[in-house]
Amino acid sequence: MIIAIDGPAAAGKGTLAQNLAKHFKYAFLDTGRLYRAVGFAVLEQNQDPSDPYYAITCAKKFDPKNINSILKNPLLREEATGNAASKVAVIPEVRAALLDLQRDFAEHPFFEDGTSAKGAVLDGRDIGTVVCPNAEIKFFVTASAEVRANRRFKELNDAGKIASYEKILQDIKERDFRDSNRSSAPLKPAEDAYILDTSNLNATQAFQKALDLISQNHL
Ligand code: C5P
Repeated sequence: MIIAIDGPAAAGKGTLAQNLAKHFKYAFLDTGRLYRAVGFAVLEQNQDPSDPYYAITCAKKFDPKNINSILKNPLLREEATGNAASKVAVIPEVRAALLDLQRDFAEHPFFEDGTSAKGAVLDGRDIGTVVCPNAEIKFFVTASAEVRANRRFKELNDAGKIASYEKILQDIKERDFRDSNRSSAPLKPAEDAYILDTSNLNATQAFQKALDLISQNHL
């Protein structure tokens, strides 16, 4: 069983994916972290994430056996890493280098301790359209740019970080534009995805709505 969850930044797809994975006892992969790890590796070399040479080299160095430890790096959560990720993600060879890894996980999901799972939840931008077009259940989680910027702003504020709402909103809009308008695997809902607008829903309500859709149509 594969559950594919796509959507723009800060729409709530990560929280929903983790809640569904926990509920069904499936393994979870945040595919954005793969792109973040590549963007981070390029930034660490003081190079430009839009430069295909460095981005492709870093993406090809990815060792699937080390995936858990690489993805745990807390610096991957930084806003600068997210922006770098969305720049490397435009490059088709970077996407190609990360594709098998994601498909392998979907087909043979495993938990952090290495034990195998009977299902997988993957979240990203192209899971339902490109990575797992045959996923049994697909969600496209979205919310207005203003609501998403406000959530990010609160998250950063709660973590004691100084942030500007205007700058976050601008970054989110730029990232949406880059993710939606790239030629390779652009952000868009799969034709058979349930659209879940979380603008007026909290995490619990979004989870409940997703569970209702699954139990009405798939169980
Ligand atoms: O989801 P997250 O914000 O961590 O993703 C960072 C960036 O990685 C996104 O803005 C997007 O450009 C890229 N990404 C992607 N395809 C995925 C997951 C993430 O292009 N499946």
